[in-house]
Amino acid sequence: MQQKAIEDFIKMKLNGEKIVMITAYDYVQAGIAEEAGVDIVLVGDSLATTVQGKDNTISVTLEEMIYHAKIVRTGLKNTFLACDMPFMSYQVNSEQALTNAGRILKESGANAVKMEGGANIAGTVKKLTESGIPVIGHIGLMPQFINVLGGYKVQGKISSQIDKLVEDAKALEDSGAFMIVLEAMPEDAAVSVKKSINIPTIGIGAGKYTDGQVLVFYDAVGMLAQKPPKFVKKFAESRPIIIEALKTYGREVKNGSFPAEENIYKQQK
Ligand code: KIV
Repeated sequence: MQQKAIEDFIKMKLNGEKIVMITAYDYVQAGIAEEAGVDIVLVGDSLATTVQGKDNTISVTLEEMIYHAKIVRTGLKNTFLACDMPFMSYQVNSEQALTNAGRILKESGANAVKMEGGANIAGTVKKLTESGIPVIGHIGLMPQFINVLGGYKVQGKISSQIDKLVEDAKALEDSGAFMIVLEAMPEDAAVSVKKSINIPTIGIGAGKYTDGQVLVFYDAVGMLAQKPPKFVKKFAESRPIIIEALKTYGREVKNGSFPAEENIYKQQK
């Protein structure tokens, strides 16, 4: 299968074919995601909370994002790869954003960057898209705003907030963004946003009417110890399976049944 291009995502939206996005942070996850046939892999800055065990995404660096995007790219042959721009890699000014987004594409092989924000980053999105860097917007709950929001709170619960989401989505589309992630908002708010623009919307905790869905890899396969948020569905419970496998390994090492004959190199006679 050929890697999808931006116009394919627009076509999918027009045809009512849902777009499947999943995060990945390494070579193995990338290969698994590609084999499963997802449409877009995202190296999310959720790298900080999932892989690095941090409380939020603020501290993850550009270098770390590029490193992980690079190893994810190595695991992907034909899948569109997007990479988050981390906190403070695009907020200072659009020149710095362009330099940093350019580094992400050149050094990692990602096909697009994702940035949190709406009308406030429209000028930067324009600069990047006019320079040949495809941009995915991200509105609603924006984890990089945790210190302003005071927590991970559902957005768009009242009509003035919905108006703001619509205004932000339109500003992103007008600036050249080719897709927008809608995070943590009531389904009605996501529908209002979707109806106001022509580019695909990808939801996470935004109900079922968006043009596609995105989940964090570890959430989707049930690998994390903590209880996931309401919008997550665990499509497998892999954590207990892996723990059981490691317990069996430990038992077999201790009782001497591993390595068995078939695991042992033999001298040639
Ligand atoms: O960082 C991330 O993983 C994300 C997705 C959840 C959309 O932004």
